[in-house]
Amino acid sequence: MTIWHPTDNSYADITSHDTFTNGVPHNTFARLRTEDPIHWTKYKDGIGFWSITRHEDISLMIGNTETFTSEYGIRMEDQSYEEYLARRTFQEIDGMQHRNLRMKVAKAFSGPVIREFEYSIRDLCSKILDDVFVDSEFDAVEKIARELPMKMLGRIIGLPEEDLPWLVEKGDALIANTDPDFTDHVLDKLDTDKFRMMPHNSPAGADLYLYAEDLMKKKKQSGDTNGILSMIVEPNEDGSKISEIEFKNFFCQLVAAGNDTTRYSIAAGIHALCHQTELLAKMQGDPKIWDTAPDEIIRWASPVNYFRRTARKDFEIHNKIIKSGDKVLYWFASSNRDVKKFGNPFKVDLYRKPNNHQAFGQGGPHICLGIWLARLEIKCLFQEFSKRVSKITQTDNHEFLRSNFINGIKKLPVNIKLQ
Ligand code: HEM
Repeated sequence: MTIWHPTDNSYADITSHDTFTNGVPHNTFARLRTEDPIHWTKYKDGIGFWSITRHEDISLMIGNTETFTSEYGIRMEDQSYEEYLARRTFQEIDGMQHRNLRMKVAKAFSGPVIREFEYSIRDLCSKILDDVFVDSEFDAVEKIARELPMKMLGRIIGLPEEDLPWLVEKGDALIANTDPDFTDHVLDKLDTDKFRMMPHNSPAGADLYLYAEDLMKKKKQSGDTNGILSMIVEPNEDGSKISEIEFKNFFCQLVAAGNDTTRYSIAAGIHALCHQTELLAKMQGDPKIWDTAPDEIIRWASPVNYFRRTARKDFEIHNKIIKSGDKVLYWFASSNRDVKKFGNPFKVDLYRKPNNHQAFGQGGPHICLGIWLARLEIKCLFQEFSKRVSKITQTDNHEFLRSNFINGIKKLPVNIKLQ
């Protein structure tokens, strides 16, 4: 059984999903940050792209959506404009249109609204953990990390309990569309052309559209005005209202964005507890640690490896010219391990402050909508976990997701001793 350290030879192929089955190739990113921070990467399956690997450069560029737009896609893979229009979410729209749409849903995910759910989140965490802890050996991803985020989203939005496993499966198929453990339609292995008009080239997108359509219909018919779904579908103070197609896209986006990012943060956090054994005692010993611990777990996990933008104008940086039309990837996986920004970045320091990580993006208009929810879920889960567990050990090798887009431990066998 291995404690994980990067083993890449500093020249890993970052375009290959297979590379990431050994974890993020951090030696390669460390070399790029030092030698060639604005690096042109050839892409055998399509048009090449610029890799931005330093924290300070991403900070400089991410807010500049005039120059770097999300409007041609957010993944490395190329898509035609027709495909983009058919399957874009509001993450792939910029300017006023994005702002207006985000305003319609922002209140529902704001700090004060999400804090109201703390009791419910904690209750769900307790139930999940108490069910799992009947056994002392289990896969922590399957039994804990995979369970919480979708169930929580279901509670917050008000989805029927019995639909949740189906939604988790669809969310996985949508985002983890490069890992055969999660989809039959592996993006770079099979011809997924007939799904090219669906979100993430996946038939799961079409299923989620139908589900969202039905949900909206039921909500309207019931006349029920409670809950977060009502906040999303009801008109804003300025009278603006989310349209049906916007809602369908937004729902797909929630299932995709809110599901595995939080799951893989929890998985990385539990993995850290197995190997930095002082962490559990620290969690148990000092209530103040919860002011900083959730963000450090999220920095450590960095579940979104990158997001892509496309240049609309030429832009010069570190003596390189990014040309209008070029694809640009902000590698958060790299910037969150940048020694110029974080002391000892390969160590989990639950007291880290300041912790200006970029796992949620940083400062730009697309900064994660689910920040408050993700932080609260992670805080409650690890609080309840550390109340119950006195020792945790990893019992067999863990496995990483096959994806250069999402970074995650998908299997983590552990043994626990209860207090
Ligand atoms: C630890 C967990 C999470 C991480 C690391 C994460 C990360 C990210 C990142 C990196 C972005 C893009 C930022 C940018 O391009 O500037 C993003 C956007 C987004 N996230 Fe999250 N996310 C997490 C949890 C969630 C949750 C729980 C939800 C929903 C409930 C969510 C909903 C969204 C949405 C809707 C967007 C698009 C925002 C926009 O384009 O305006 N995320 N997230």
